[in-house]
Amino acid sequence: MKRTMRMLLIPLLLFLVATGFSTRHTGEGQTLYEQHCARCHGADGTRGMFGAKNLQKSLLPDTAIALQIRNGKRIMPPFKKRLTPDQINELTTYIKTLRKPAI
Ligand code: HEC
Repeated sequence: MKRTMRMLLIPLLLFLVATGFSTRHTGEGQTLYEQHCARCHGADGTRGMFGAKNLQKSLLPDTAIALQIRNGKRIMPPFKKRLTPDQINELTTYIKTLRKPAI
């Protein structure tokens, strides 16, 4: 009986953990963006403060985006000391969702 309970509980726990992680996962890029990037780039990527590039029009590939977040460029500060590589990946994925298809 005890054994059956455990066999039911373990998958349930795993499921809860997995879904909990995945919801947190999807929101993280946006939260990080709002905390670190929106003051220059704007919530939708178009603010252009201090000459910040319009992220809706950016065509940079993933590796170049991640590199620029890590090292910064001119007025854009480097984030490698403030963000983990995972967070930088989250941001890279998130800012691509701001892009609008070219008309
Ligand atoms: C202090 C203002 C500022 C902040 C904060 C900032 N940026 Fe920038 N960002 C800039 C400026 C200025 C440029 C243009 C740099 C250049 O090429 O001269 C830029 C350019 C970029 C580009 C290159 C776009 C392209 O197509 O060339 C990306 C990607 C980018 N920023 C992402 C981010 C992300 C992600 C964050 C948050 C982690 C962030 N930025 C925070 C000012 C900022």
